Amino acid sequence: MIMALNQNGLKIYASTISLLPLVVLVSCVFLYLASIFLFKDPNCSSSELLHYSSRSTTPQFSDDSSPTNLSHLVFGLLGSEEAWHFRKDYIESWWRPNKTRGYLFLDVAPKGDDLLPWSSSSPPYRVSDNITQLLEESKHVAPVMARMVHGIMEVFREDHEGVRWVVMGDDDSIFFVDNMVDVLARYDHTKYYYLGAQSEFIMSNHWYSFNQAFGGAGFILSYPLAKAMSKYIETCLRKYPFLRSADQITMVCISDVGVTFTPLKGSHQIDLRGDISGLLSSHPKAPLMSLHHLDATDSIFPSIERQQSVRHLMKAANLDQSRMLQQVICYNRPTNWSFSISWGYSVHIYENILPRSHLQLPIETFQPWGVTPKDPPYYMLNTRSRTNDSCQAPHIFFMKNVEKTKTSSEILTTYSRSSPRELLSCSYTGNYSADYISMIQVYSPRTKRIEMDRCECCDVIHKKGTNKATITLRECRVDEIIA
Ligand SMILES: *[C@@H]1O[C@H](CO)[C@@H](O)[C@H](O)[C@H]1NC(C)=O
Ligand SMILES: *[C@@H]1O[C@H](CO)[C@@H](O)[C@H](O)[C@H]1NC(C)=O
Ligand SMILES: *[C@@H]1O[C@H](CO)[C@@H](O)[C@H](O)[C@H]1NC(C)=O
Ligand SMILES: *[C@@H]1O[C@H](CO)[C@@H](O)[C@H](O)[C@H]1NC(C)=O
Ligand SMILES: *[C@@H]1O[C@H](CO)[C@@H](O)[C@H](O)[C@H]1NC(C)=O
Ligand SMILES: *[C@@H]1O[C@H](CO)[C@@H](O)[C@H](O)[C@H]1NC(C)=O
Repeated sequence: MIMALNQNGLKIYASTISLLPLVVLVSCVFLYLASIFLFKDPNCSSSELLHYSSRSTTPQFSDDSSPTNLSHLVFGLLGSEEAWHFRKDYIESWWRPNKTRGYLFLDVAPKGDDLLPWSSSSPPYRVSDNITQLLEESKHVAPVMARMVHGIMEVFREDHEGVRWVVMGDDDSIFFVDNMVDVLARYDHTKYYYLGAQSEFIMSNHWYSFNQAFGGAGFILSYPLAKAMSKYIETCLRKYPFLRSADQITMVCISDVGVTFTPLKGSHQIDLRGDISGLLSSHPKAPLMSLHHLDATDSIFPSIERQQSVRHLMKAANLDQSRMLQQVICYNRPTNWSFSISWGYSVHIYENILPRSHLQLPIETFQPWGVTPKDPPYYMLNTRSRTNDSCQAPHIFFMKNVEKTKTSSEILTTYSRSSPRELLSCSYTGNYSADYISMIQVYSPRTKRIEMDRCECCDVIHKKGTNKATITLRECRVDEIIA
């Protein structure tokens, strides 16, 4: 049916013949409505009407309403043959063969006895497309970066049946896939979304963009956006051959599609160096989705070697991802101590009653990623500085063990002291030293906790003089104040 506007701005129809379907529809509607009250007309069944109206909304997905699960995510990981030899372990720590979908894209085919035959615990690999011609024609300044961006199209081309979200990552991205599923389930995958993380280092965002997802933390495209990007990517690479960063090219191309970045608090680029335990011990109130750059930081568990540390963290993640790194705070009044738990990772004891808002600030144990400007601020977060003030410095414990309890429906995580604090006790709060505490046991429910409106609360059981403290996590009471 051809429509046009006349001089008065009214819709007119080009031919009377084309009016026919409208007449049929209108009469069907009339007869259908009449039929509800009066009679059934065999020529205008209700299904015909529904069919007609649903056609105008053209649904792209047949099973829109089913809950999002892992099979709806496809991962595209960009790596190099050279680095894969030592980065394989990072990916295998979270990859679930035959459950996680996706591919590792390598620059060249894998070589060497350590890689061949290809491990079934690794994602299947593909060799990236040869885009030499595109690079030469466009005189692209960053061939490696262009290959990475092109990967979006390659993963989409490879596997998009039933896919709702395309997750792009690096070969050293650690993903917490159960949490990703739970977080993504809250978004409408039939809409256009570009999700991910900013850099923790302010200057990186300043130099590139505050509106950009940093690739190592994983950036996530909803299906319609991934599809649009796949179509546009080669044109876009030719359009901006002067851009040198894969993440920036991606952002610029996505922006051309009309979509803007939405940051997620649980995704972490980790543009930081040194000891990141301060950050991981005060994680924001959001499900942990990713960690990155663990090659470039100190081992996250000081007494365990780097790659083994990631496996160790995953032991807790495999029993309960929803509580992973979630910070729970409670107080032991008889000794004036604060306990801050970062579930599955660490516990801090302070010989002082400190407000939750204070303990939520990460201790600045780390350094910035890049060239440090002369003056702070360096980070996209407020921090506390390290201190030797015995009323402010924590006793630090790291997760030693995680297990399901035999008798009850709980998970028991055990934390042991990393090293002596070597400070006097805090005399101002009663001089109760926590030096003799060597082990902390934390009991948490075995049920997943995905509500994020409020934290959990906890109770401390500690008999003065014993070297152990036991903590039980529970829901906070309705009007409970944590102070
Ligand atoms: C995931 O959801 C799809 C429906 O979209 C369903 O067919 C499939 O069985 C589900 N998979 C799991 C593991 O629950
Ligand atoms: C994955 O599935 C393939 C067949 O599709 C099977 O050969 C292989 O053993 C499975 N791998 C694992 C780790 O279950
Ligand atoms: C990639 O393609 C170019 C021509 O476009 C060709 O010269 C080159 O040999 C190819 N590289 C590989 C590794 O196949
Ligand atoms: C705390 O004391 C230790 C040992 O004396 C010292 O190495 C460290 O630099 C001090 N830290 C601060 C933040 O003052
Ligand atoms: C805890 O510390 C406060 C000072 O902040 C003090 O008044 C109180 O007596 C202490 N409580 C105990 C049990 O020592
Ligand atoms: C605090 O306790 C220590 C022993 O742990 C003791 O040596 C010190 O004198 C006490 N300080 C105060 C102010 O009571």
